[in-house]
Amino acid sequence: MADNEVVITVKPNGSLRVAGPFRLVDVDGNVFELPEGWDHNRDVTLCRCGESAIKPFCDSTHKELDWAPETRAT
Ligand code: FES
Repeated sequence: MADNEVVITVKPNGSLRVAGPFRLVDVDGNVFELPEGWDHNRDVTLCRCGESAIKPFCDSTHKELDWAPETRAT
């Protein structure tokens, strides 16, 4: 693994955790700003359930849902 490689972890029944230097853009190339209180030195979590109020970021709403995808690499 390269030192600057971005690692995306599929969390069980939850978000996608992104660790490493990255830029998150919309389809037009506009950069998403991090939610207030988040900083660029921490891992970022992206919503996978579709119910977050701060999409594309995860706000932990998935914990309140009956949403339990089992996603493992094979
Ligand atoms: S995955 Fe966490 S709110 Fe959607």
